[in-house]
Amino acid sequence: MALSNRRILILYGSETGTAQDKAEEIDRMCQRLRFHTELDAMDNVKLNDLLQDYDLVCFVVATTGQGHFPNSSRKFWKNLRRARLPPNCLETVQFTTFGLGDSSYHKYNWASRLLHARLLRLGANEVFARGEADERHDDGIDSIYQPWLKDFKEFLIKSHPLPPSVQPIPEEEPLPPRYTLSLCLGEAKSRPAPEAAVDAETAVDFPPPVLLPCPNNNDAVVISNTRVTPSEHWQDVRLVELDVSFPVVDGVAYEPLPGDRVVVYPKNYPSDVKKLIELMEWDAVADKEVFLGAKVPNGLYPPAKCTLRDLLTHNIDFMAVPSRSFLHKLAFHTTHEDQKEKLFELVQPDAAQEFYDFTSRPRRTILEVLAEFYSSKIPYEAIPDVFPIIRGREFSIANGGETLKKAQPLKKDDAKEAAEGPANDTVVCRIDVFAALVEYRTIIRKPRVGLCSRYLKNLPVGTPLHVEMKRETPPPTGSAAANRPLIAIATGTGVAPVRSLIHDRIQNSPRAETLLFFGCRNKSADFHFHEEWETTPDLTVMPAFSRDPKQAEPEAKPKPEPETEKDVPETNPNEKPLANGVLAINGTEESETPTEPVVVTYSYDEGKNYVQHVIRRNAAKVCELLKKNAIICLCGNSGRMPKSVREALCDAAVSGGFCKDTVEAEKLLFDEKDPNKVFYWEETW
Ligand SMILES: Cc1cc2nc3c(=O)[nH]c(=O)nc-3n(C[C@H](O)[C@H](O)[C@H](O)COP(=O)(O)OP(=O)(O)OC[C@H]3O[C@@H](n4cnc5c(N)ncnc54)[C@H](O)[C@@H]3O)c2cc1C
Ligand SMILES: NC(=O)c1ccc[n+]([C@@H]2O[C@H](COP(=O)([O-])OP(=O)(O)OC[C@H]3O[C@@H](n4cnc5c(N)ncnc54)[C@H](OP(=O)(O)O)[C@@H]3O)[C@@H](O)[C@H]2O)c1
Ligand SMILES: Cc1cc2nc3c(=O)[nH]c(=O)nc-3n(C[C@H](O)[C@H](O)[C@H](O)COP(=O)(O)O)c2cc1C
Repeated sequence: MALSNRRILILYGSETGTAQDKAEEIDRMCQRLRFHTELDAMDNVKLNDLLQDYDLVCFVVATTGQGHFPNSSRKFWKNLRRARLPPNCLETVQFTTFGLGDSSYHKYNWASRLLHARLLRLGANEVFARGEADERHDDGIDSIYQPWLKDFKEFLIKSHPLPPSVQPIPEEEPLPPRYTLSLCLGEAKSRPAPEAAVDAETAVDFPPPVLLPCPNNNDAVVISNTRVTPSEHWQDVRLVELDVSFPVVDGVAYEPLPGDRVVVYPKNYPSDVKKLIELMEWDAVADKEVFLGAKVPNGLYPPAKCTLRDLLTHNIDFMAVPSRSFLHKLAFHTTHEDQKEKLFELVQPDAAQEFYDFTSRPRRTILEVLAEFYSSKIPYEAIPDVFPIIRGREFSIANGGETLKKAQPLKKDDAKEAAEGPANDTVVCRIDVFAALVEYRTIIRKPRVGLCSRYLKNLPVGTPLHVEMKRETPPPTGSAAANRPLIAIATGTGVAPVRSLIHDRIQNSPRAETLLFFGCRNKSADFHFHEEWETTPDLTVMPAFSRDPKQAEPEAKPKPEPETEKDVPETNPNEKPLANGVLAINGTEESETPTEPVVVTYSYDEGKNYVQHVIRRNAAKVCELLKKNAIICLCGNSGRMPKSVREALCDAAVSGGFCKDTVEAEKLLFDEKDPNKVFYWEETW
């Protein structure tokens, strides 16, 4: 039992669930210390709520986008930033913050830093030192989070000692669930089990097209789903065309723009759901209608009239890699003593290596863990409390301009038409999703496939979907932007938002030049859209094929980082323009005389041919466009690439004569406080 005079409020801002998971762990730690806890998404509380009689308010906040607050915390942040809040309005609030971020992003842990600074400015008191964790660390977020949590616990024990007669709740004792599930009353309604469809050899094992009530959903239908990489290439990259329907409200409908994202909610396969039901012995209730308790986990959107099987198919992420908190909760539902002990061992903060070796390294799924720990039987009532939920996956829209108008109005079924009016109350846009399927191997022999990747791989043409459109800070578009040159840098599927921008530009006239540095693996396998580029006006493409043989270049000798412009020649003599300005690199077209190696190498990309190398080699061209007020866009995978490209842009700006040194280049390209800053837009994931 919590002691009534000990109260803690735990608030989170989470985009993909990690911060929420950590906040829930803090919540359980505080409950064990007999605090009465309240846990919620930041947007679900008002500023005044902070002033209630809490001993402490703990914020757990991730950063998303390019230095943005997660969706579930933006309303709160907007309120907190209001200029007319009195300077000491939070002076009675005791708080701490924990930030989750990734140091490969330019605005590392931006949201938690902004929040922390603002709370202090409004007079709140930091009673326990803030923590800040980096996803890039060897052990990920946990490397900082686990020691921080341990210290935070020590702090609470010292600052809020329990009366001598009261002990903390031991780790081995389960806590009451925060979220619950029940069978619908009135002789629980059920639906026939779709067993036959799953078992029959001819039946297709694919989730049913049930539409989820996800936020701001738009009706969509799959028009095509085509693999664009050759079948013999290891990577399956697909172009999925969707017709998305936008309601006209007061004569206006949503207009998709470059930089927008479509959110797709993936689903589990019926055969896996069946396996889970059998493992957990839920057969008797699997096709009964269920309802969730008053409190529902943030981001859970169950279908209408939902059976347990529906919930498992559409909402419960049992193919995810298990978190510590999942394994901890699982231990309470495990009867075999050795298995229980093993689970408790794995979640100990000092067992980081064992935990990593068991979970992230092989990328074991929850389903596999449940099969291994065969004595674990989670009661169905605990499902929303124990399992993570499926989150929507974002995809940058890959087209724009006139191509959005290819769609036909969607035909509505009668019930929908009666409720919402005829289809001409909507505008339908053809939206391209360009997806690289996540398929890889780990130390476990079985290949791993991302949840959404598996869903997209077999998503049939004609499938109805509910998708959400998201817009954060879009890149400049329209005639004013088209009048300025564009320097675009994209790797892999990062070409998606760039293609959208290019489509937008070519519908404008007059139009300045576009220079695209595109990084992919092979000219023959994943030089995406190269045919389209050949007929695109005012576009020059400079590809960097990272895995094609470097025929013309001698073995690259390690070179120091360039300090002066003489390290970086203006152009690579092995780069030859093709028709319409598309370039071929490294002797894949007939090459001229081989010269000294020009690839500037860092230890990790030594000998590679990446976009950053091509940028450096074409410093003069980059600077010519920068002098004409160019816009820069960088899109693709997060990790090392964005930082390396930003460095290459600075180097090119110096060696090409746009800036006197890299300090000035840094300022002009990336310092948001500089009034002369070049317009720079980044979208990396
Ligand atoms: C703003 C934004 C725009 C995006 N736009 C696009 C886009 O246009 N096209 C596109 O394809 N994707 C895009 N994505 C990524 C997309 O949302 C999904 O993350 C991606 O499709 C993978 O989802 P999944 O469910 O298949 O994989 P998940 O089941 O979520 O698994 C992904 C996880 O698998 C692990 N993983 C991946 N590869 C490996 C590996 N080789 N070794 C070990 N572990 C690995 C990583 O931990 C990764 O986090 C975008 C993301 C964002 C945030
Ligand atoms: N093993 C796998 O199955 C595997 C491998 C990679 C990606 N993926 C998945 O596929 C998704 C998207 O793939 P994608 O093809 O769109 O993009 P990508 O993996 O980012 O690759 C695109 C290009 O970027 C290059 N690149 C890699 N590191 C770089 C760096 N530091 N600087 C500059 N360029 C760099 C790659 O070269 P190199 O590859 O030659 O280094 C490749 O030519 C990823 O999110 C990942 O999950 C799976
Ligand atoms: C699309 C995307 C954008 C991100 N942007 C940033 C960023 O700008 N700064 C940062 O420090 N971390 C960034 N991150 C890292 C996340 O903050 C980190 O992965 C965190 O653990 C996610 O927590 P969540 O699951 O609660 O959203 C980003 C992650 C993703 C997937």
